[in-house]
Amino acid sequence: MATNADIASKFHFSREMVAGEIYRKYEKAMRKFWTVEDLDFTQDALDWQRVTPEQQKGLLGVTVRFLAGEQAVTDELVPMLSASHALNRFDWIMYLSTFLMEEAKHAEFFMRWHEAVVGVVDPEEVVPHFLTRGKTVDPSGRFEVRDVLHEALPDYGGRLMDAVAGGSESDIERAFVQFSAAYNGFVEGVLTMPSYEIVIDTTALWGAFPTLNKGFRLILADEGRHITFGTTACRILIEKDPSYEDAVHEVFDAYRGNIVGLVEYQKAVPGLDVGKYQTMKVRHYRNRCREMGVTPDETLIEQILDPEIDFVVGVEAG
Ligand SMILES: [Fe+2]
Ligand SMILES: [Fe+2]
Repeated sequence: MATNADIASKFHFSREMVAGEIYRKYEKAMRKFWTVEDLDFTQDALDWQRVTPEQQKGLLGVTVRFLAGEQAVTDELVPMLSASHALNRFDWIMYLSTFLMEEAKHAEFFMRWHEAVVGVVDPEEVVPHFLTRGKTVDPSGRFEVRDVLHEALPDYGGRLMDAVAGGSESDIERAFVQFSAAYNGFVEGVLTMPSYEIVIDTTALWGAFPTLNKGFRLILADEGRHITFGTTACRILIEKDPSYEDAVHEVFDAYRGNIVGLVEYQKAVPGLDVGKYQTMKVRHYRNRCREMGVTPDETLIEQILDPEIDFVVGVEAG
């Protein structure tokens, strides 16, 4: 016969959970819902015909990377859901259901924009616009540049899935902190933030593509919740076991070169203030550390701001 404890395990809600900070993010995501269908791409399509071929090429180089990047982050979120289930955190699962839907919607936004404005959708139509470059090299040889989106996320995600399958609770928690530090702290929280701003600044500078501008603003508002979900979850776990702080620094160390280099778009669009985006990265890095409750690495900050370190890093979206 089922005991009271067995029956109680079927129910996850509590007053404390519903009043908590993660559950409130779920409620906010539900309130802030928007759809791609409601956006009108007519003016953007007219602007596409009006701008120069150089402007088309520069912009498309950025948007096609976002098209790939949003698909990648949609595809890589499952380990976090699986781990939240294993850790018995139903409020995290509820929030993550909105997170996964929003990443799918961001991918949909870029698919529709490219279809309506540029006329490309199928892989063979999009691939020629994906700017491939040789391996990025720091001329000083001090930093290595790695593929964060297609290397770090599957790698840390795989380790988290392994922990869920066979590890102890603390193995899962530590792997969760590491995956979240990479996904929410590093990729969404620091690396791609300047890229969103650069596109918004570029459309403002050109006085064109109002719906691309609007879509980026809607996406940024969603990203703000994704980032602070991850950093709040990390803070909760680090408060439980302060030794998890090392897992955060390990991630930022392993991909240090990607964060100290300049975002490629900073140099792709003439007229943008290059220094603005490095300062922005430092501000975001300090905010993420504060939210996670970890001590910022001051050497990393000095390297981001060092004008001598100016090699360019390719960045995709979160
Ligand atoms: Fe996204
Ligand atoms: Fe995101």
